[in-house]
Amino acid sequence: MSSKCSEHDVNSNPTQVLKDEHRVIERVLDAVERSLGHEAVDKVFFEKALDFIRNFADGCHHAKEEGQLFPVLEESGVPREGGPIGCMLNEHEQGRSLVRLMADNLEAAAGGNRAAVGTVHQAAADYVELLRQHIQKEDTVLFVVADQRLGAEQKKLVMAAFDRAEEAGGDVGKHARYVALADELAQWTFGND
Ligand SMILES: [Fe+2]
Ligand SMILES: [Fe+2]
Repeated sequence: MSSKCSEHDVNSNPTQVLKDEHRVIERVLDAVERSLGHEAVDKVFFEKALDFIRNFADGCHHAKEEGQLFPVLEESGVPREGGPIGCMLNEHEQGRSLVRLMADNLEAAAGGNRAAVGTVHQAAADYVELLRQHIQKEDTVLFVVADQRLGAEQKKLVMAAFDRAEEAGGDVGKHARYVALADELAQWTFGND
């Protein structure tokens, strides 16, 4: 059993670990987008999706970027303010605001309140759009810069920092649990599917 929220072999590159997590996150974004084709807000689906977003996409994945990769990139000369790192941090914050909007309106939306349904649907659509383009920028721009700038030793240090951060969480099997949750959401059947 592992206590880590990502599992990788010793030769992994930190950006590859993050890209693998992007593919899991995208499966949940697809499921959230699919939910928008249904007028009623499925409370159980959204509770599970918000759990995934808060604890895996943000708690595990964005935390690795903000806490470990971005600081090392900054040290290597990639600017924060007015540069790609500041932009990525800003988008993480925008995502958190949209998640709060969904969470705050979920109960009323599930109860059929029209304004709350509109708010949840709009916030969910905005979140999907925000995260898709955010992931694309990281995969094709920032991580490419990281691969070029960071030497083998720095990459090893970032990987070790990923492991330490995850072990500090002490949550056995977290990664496997959230990948399974992504599978469950990807196969979710909505009311009138
Ligand atoms: Fe990010
Ligand atoms: Fe990311």
